[in-house]
Amino acid sequence: MKVLEATGITKLFPGVVALDSVDISFEPGQIHAIIGENGAGKSTLIKCLTGVYVPEEGSVEINGQDALKNKELFDKIAYVPQEIDLFGYMSVAENLFIPYEKSGFKGMVNQKALEEAARPLLAKFQIPVEPDELVKDISVSSQQLLQIARATVHEDYEVLMLDEPTTSLTTKDTQILFDIVRQIKSQNKAVVFISHKLEEIFALSDVITVFRNGKKVAYSEIGQVDIPWVIRQMTGREVDQNQVFCSEKVTDEVLMEVNDLTGERFTDVSFQLKRGEILGFSGLVGAGRSELMQAILGYLPVYKGTVRIDGENWKLGDPTFSVKHGYIYLPEERKKQGILPVLSIRENISVAVLDRLASATGISRKKEDELAQNVIDTYDVKTPDAEKEIQFLSGGNQQKVIIGRAMTCEPKVLVFDEPTKGIDVGTKAEIYRLMKELAEQKGIGIILISSEMDEIRKCSNRIIALYDGRKVGEFPATADKEEILSAIIGVG
Ligand SMILES: Nc1ncnc2c1ncn2[C@@H]1O[C@H](COP(=O)(O)OP(=O)(O)OP(=O)(O)O)[C@@H](O)[C@H]1O
Ligand SMILES: [Mg+2]
Repeated sequence: MKVLEATGITKLFPGVVALDSVDISFEPGQIHAIIGENGAGKSTLIKCLTGVYVPEEGSVEINGQDALKNKELFDKIAYVPQEIDLFGYMSVAENLFIPYEKSGFKGMVNQKALEEAARPLLAKFQIPVEPDELVKDISVSSQQLLQIARATVHEDYEVLMLDEPTTSLTTKDTQILFDIVRQIKSQNKAVVFISHKLEEIFALSDVITVFRNGKKVAYSEIGQVDIPWVIRQMTGREVDQNQVFCSEKVTDEVLMEVNDLTGERFTDVSFQLKRGEILGFSGLVGAGRSELMQAILGYLPVYKGTVRIDGENWKLGDPTFSVKHGYIYLPEERKKQGILPVLSIRENISVAVLDRLASATGISRKKEDELAQNVIDTYDVKTPDAEKEIQFLSGGNQQKVIIGRAMTCEPKVLVFDEPTKGIDVGTKAEIYRLMKELAEQKGIGIILISSEMDEIRKCSNRIIALYDGRKVGEFPATADKEEILSAIIGVG
């Protein structure tokens, strides 16, 4: 028995076959994982199955009826998109129930009634916020859970589709979500779960479908396969999960020295970074790692302490100075802070070096084109051309453009803040290799902030643990997981 059955789905974008004649179906009471590299077509598929996109070819049947003809059948599907699309300046309760009419609120909407109705949902999802708080003021993890709570408000849905729901969830919130998803499954609803995190897929799903380059390449019951099988299907090759990527050319030369730095969210932090070294920063969300690096950049205040980079006393509080003198920070929230989404790849690169490209008569388009093409070639960005709007590139390819852009500014210290959030296993290895090359071949000092313990241990030459804004440990790359974990949860 199938609740949704799609056949021969083809979806085209300019220069790209996003989906190539895909057949897929979902059964009640089953959790169906979908996996594939960035840009494989997962989100596009979900959008075709929820009525957001109309495919060029193919059919979508819901309970045996043609949904492309009867659009109201798509109401049977609860959909949580990959990007957070809540209203930041509205309250938690308002976000949960908008549009109110559909949520059963008639006539003038009473704030108190909304807030009362919100409480049990917040309790169910264990979201630690008040119904009247503005969404922009709650944590990203809470926002992601709220988005899922909202999608499931109308209990008459039969399929729940979650597009990478855990990218910004803390470990604890991921467990809360999984418990809820299992409950939903036990109510005999179908669940579709997209994730790049293989452990999650194996922990949660019943069946798995693998996509590569717009095509469905494999399907199996989860019990019949293992992680190496999934990776092989996804990438068409073997990816060695145990390969390490730390720099083999760490010098003795201190490139960066931070002494007793104190700001709003970090206290008395000192460390040294060598030329050619990859230095990992481990810690829980909120431990102050991003704040520390943003303060050095000049975005956040520093109350006390000093920074020296390449022999220079650092001028704090001045991001322009920092970037010009070689300290570059690549932010965690790639889509919000790292890119100008509606501009092309070319423009996203050239904004960083406008002073070099501009003259009294304007910006040299020839130089701009050359620069963009150079980044595309050097960092192997997968795109039809440099004119594609960067928001339509997959996450991994956006990240490569951002790294390429940073390199045009000739950095001495590069900070990667959660560089592989939402990035597939194959592309992850490419990003790790890139970090290693930058450290080894260009002598750049790299700071890696990551919440993934495996990532930190694979890539770093040394690891610093922060807890509640304080440095609580410094470990060699060979240190074991438990030791580092104890430090970052404050029991080290
Ligand atoms: N609105 C759009 N306009 C143009 N091209 C698009 C658009 N949306 C997606 N694409 C392209 O279609 C292909 C499939 O993209 P899609 O977002 O479905 O991949 P995905 O598997 O969800 O990747 P990720 O893991 O990064 O989320 C990619 O090549 C992407 O660049
Ligand atoms: Mg996607």
